Amino acid sequence: MLQARCQEFRSRLLAWYQANARDLPWRKSHDPYRVWVSEIMLQQTRVAAVIEHYHEFLRLFPTVEKLAARRESSVLAAWSGLGYYRRARLLHAAAKLIARSLRGKFPPTAEGWRQLPGIGRYTAAAIASIAFGEPAAAVDGNVERVLERVNGNSPSGGELWQAAEDLLDRARPGDFNQAMMELGATVCTPRAPRCRMCPVIEMCATRGELAGGAQTSRQKKREIHYALRCRGSQVCLVVRPRHAALMPGMWELPQIEAPGGHAKPAFTVKHSITTTDYTVRVWNLGLPARIPGRWISRPRLARLPLTGLARKILRRAGIMQRAVPRGQSPGRPHA
Ligand code: ADE
Repeated sequence: MLQARCQEFRSRLLAWYQANARDLPWRKSHDPYRVWVSEIMLQQTRVAAVIEHYHEFLRLFPTVEKLAARRESSVLAAWSGLGYYRRARLLHAAAKLIARSLRGKFPPTAEGWRQLPGIGRYTAAAIASIAFGEPAAAVDGNVERVLERVNGNSPSGGELWQAAEDLLDRARPGDFNQAMMELGATVCTPRAPRCRMCPVIEMCATRGELAGGAQTSRQKKREIHYALRCRGSQVCLVVRPRHAALMPGMWELPQIEAPGGHAKPAFTVKHSITTTDYTVRVWNLGLPARIPGRWISRPRLARLPLTGLARKILRRAGIMQRAVPRGQSPGRPHA
C-alpha cells in the first residue's frame, strides 16, 4: 500500500476503534501484569470465556509477586475451564522468573518478553505495544486475515510480519494492534465478513472476495462416560497421571466403560475440545462400585485443579456452585 493510503488506513481504523471497541476488562488499564495475563488467557480461547475467568484470576493473584509465591496447583485450579493448561504452568514459571530474577520488573520490550516462558512473537509484541507503547506489530490469526484481504495476497512467515510492520501506526501501536484484532474479530470475519460496516473498505484490495465458503465441520464426535459417586458430602475423583500428555496432575471424575443394559445416565453434557465434540454421559454409581478414586469433600473442590469438564459436571450435578457473575450477589440464584 502506498504511504499516503497507509496513513489514511491508520487514521480511519483508529477512529473506528475508538468509537466501536468492545468494552473488554483488560482494556481499562495498561498495567503490564494485567495485559500479560489477558494475552495468555486469550491464546486459543474465546473472549467470552476469558472474561469469565479474568477478574477472579486477578483477585486471587493480584500481582506478579503473589502469583510467583503460590503453588502451581492453585494456579491450575484458577485456570480450570480455560483449557490448554500448559499456558498456566508457563505463566507461573514466567512469574517466578520476573519476581525473582528480574526483581519484579517487567521487560519493557518485545525482545525482553520473548525470553520468558510461554511468550512467542505475537504475545511479546502485543504486550510490549499495549503496555509499553513499543512500535511492534502483533500478528495473530485475525490480523493475518485482515492483512491478506486488505493487500489481496497471502504472504507467510517473514513477509507477513513485514506487511504488518509496514502498516503499523508507530505513534499508537497498542491501539493499532488491538484495532486490527478487533476488526478481524467483529467485521472482517472468516466467513461472511461485514464489508458494509468496514471503516477501511476503500483501502481494501478484495472487499470480501476472499471470504471462505460455508464451513464443513471437521469436528470428530465421541461419546464418553464418567462415574459420579457421592458419599455424604464427598465425591469420588481421580487425579490424571503426572506424565499424561493432556492435563497432567489435574483432577476429574473416574472414566468408565458404557454401562450395558437398559440403564439411563443421570444426565448428559456436551463438551468440545479442539477437534472433538464429546457427548458426556454421567452415571450415578452406588457406593459398592469397584472404581479407583479418592473421596474429596465439597469445600476442597474449589481449591483443586479440576479439569474444565469435571467442573462442568460437578456444577451440573449441583455439587459445586456455579460461577457468580460479577456484581451479582452470591446469595441470589439466577436463571
Ligand atoms: N485477542 C488477543 N489479544 C486481544 C486483545 N487485546 N483484545 C481482543 N482480542 C484479543
